[in-house]
Amino acid sequence: MDFKSRIRTVPDFPKPGISFKDITTLLKDREAFHAAIEALASHFEPMGVDMVTGPEARGYIFASAMAYRLNAGFVPIRKPGKLPYKTRGISYQLEYGEDRLEVHEDAFEPGQKVLVVDDLLATGGTIRATIDLVESLGARVVGVAFLIELTELGGRKRLQDHEVFSLIQF
Ligand code: PRP
Repeated sequence: MDFKSRIRTVPDFPKPGISFKDITTLLKDREAFHAAIEALASHFEPMGVDMVTGPEARGYIFASAMAYRLNAGFVPIRKPGKLPYKTRGISYQLEYGEDRLEVHEDAFEPGQKVLVVDDLLATGGTIRATIDLVESLGARVVGVAFLIELTELGGRKRLQDHEVFSLIQF
């Protein structure tokens, strides 16, 4: 399956100079969406994943489908103030400013095998923070899956301590 050709590149979105990778063209193609989930999930299936997690919002599309395919649970990582119960949070640096992610403090059992999933790896800041948050709750991150990796941004270097697999590279 040629996954790369199903991704639409939109120039100058959301601002001039940025080439946005649009996943909606892959998602509406039933064969491509199915095959993408299958390829990502089957890569990590031998690890015996207990739980799939990932950050909102586009990441959920892939993370929840993979949780279903792997017969695992799903834990949402959210922007601040969205989760109703007691949370654990982590702040991380952006190019300009700071962002924060939160998870329910009872989301994972100690030692649980967790697969982290997102649609896209750019600088790696989001997923580095996600991994640190999951591990701070005593769970074990056994792998990290992305639909798309923007290789020139070098995000993979920040995740060197984990098994990283991406389906499409730009
Ligand atoms: C995008 C993407 C990743 C993150 C990658 O999310 O879905 O989560 O950026 O960037 P990084 O590797 O440099 O951290 P975005 O913040 O646009 O949120 P969205 O999914 O809600 O649109």
